[in-house]
Amino acid sequence: MSSVEAMLRDLNSVPETIRATVRNNGGGHLNHTIFWQIMSPTGGGQPTGEIAQEINQTFGSFEQFRKQFNEAGGDRFGSGWVWLVRNPQGQLQIVNTANQDNPIMDGLYPIMGNDVWEHAYYLRYQNRRADYLNNWWNVVNWNEVNRRAIASRQA
Ligand SMILES: [Fe+2]
Repeated sequence: MSSVEAMLRDLNSVPETIRATVRNNGGGHLNHTIFWQIMSPTGGGQPTGEIAQEINQTFGSFEQFRKQFNEAGGDRFGSGWVWLVRNPQGQLQIVNTANQDNPIMDGLYPIMGNDVWEHAYYLRYQNRRADYLNNWWNVVNWNEVNRRAIASRQA
């Protein structure tokens, strides 16, 4: 675990004078680090590997999962992120977070996430977040998502 992950996991132990800064900038750093790694110009297509199976078991199908993930991204009012996480019970779950909050702050392991801040999509999509959410699947790097999914079981 990186030091930024450790701090976000236990924000209350970070001195109050710097807590908001750590939360916003540490969270932003961690979120975007994950984001750049789970995307690839040669990504997209159907999920592969173990995560494909787990998605089917949990959500019924990739299509169902994608629909629920996009809805959760659309539901986040204002700026934030939508995530596939593993909860402490070991199950996959879709959550969204405000601003630069990371699911690790709630004891959830982030497997993949999409940035739904307007800065992520306005150049190409203006205010059409739904179109961005739909097209984003064309760049998902399933190899890295699988790596994170496996790591999340050992966390
Ligand atoms: Fe961003």
